[in-house]
Amino acid sequence: MTALDIQHVDGAAGDEQLEAWRYVHNTIIPAHVLSLADVRERAARNHLELAYADGELIGNSTVRPPAGADATAMVAARVLAAHRGRGHGGHLYERALLKARELGARVIETCVLESNEDGLRFAERHGFVQTDRYQLDGDPTWWIDLRLAG
Ligand SMILES: CC(C)(COP(=O)(O)OP(=O)(O)OC[C@H]1O[C@@H](n2cnc3c(N)ncnc32)[C@H](O)[C@@H]1OP(=O)(O)O)[C@@H](O)C(=O)NCCC(=O)NCCS
Repeated sequence: MTALDIQHVDGAAGDEQLEAWRYVHNTIIPAHVLSLADVRERAARNHLELAYADGELIGNSTVRPPAGADATAMVAARVLAAHRGRGHGGHLYERALLKARELGARVIETCVLESNEDGLRFAERHGFVQTDRYQLDGDPTWWIDLRLAG
């Protein structure tokens, strides 16, 4: 696997980095389009990463820090369709999991579009089990919440 160049997109990130992160998110999750302002706000609140392979943007990730009595964190890895099946998703996911644990997470959750078969299989292969299936505000899209077992 090509070594990934990983960039942390933090609260001080410039528009170019924020736009790159937003591009990956909105391309993969068209049912939940984020504005630049949304991404800027998330960059300050969450741990966001951008991944490049050979100088080309290939994916991103999110860790929402642990919250609540059971210290639940949310992790998500996203890889653009043309770059899947080469281990990049696994690499981004492992980094996100490590970061969530480092931040004190005891419970790890993720969220996948039901239509995203690659994402569901990936999450289940990494030990997640489905905990909820729901629609938002009359939108026809089905979302699935998953929790890391054990
Ligand atoms: C889920 C997602 C991140 C996976 O990205 P990816 O880069 O394809 O992930 P990987 O390459 O690590 O693994 C995908 C498959 O390729 C296989 N693979 C990994 N490296 C490989 C290699 N060098 N050669 C052949 N196959 C390989 C893996 O075994 C895996 O197989 P599986 O789907 O049968 O389980 C991607 O499909 C995606 O962005 N989906 C939308 C967002 C999402 O749903 N994210 C999940 C929430 S965490």
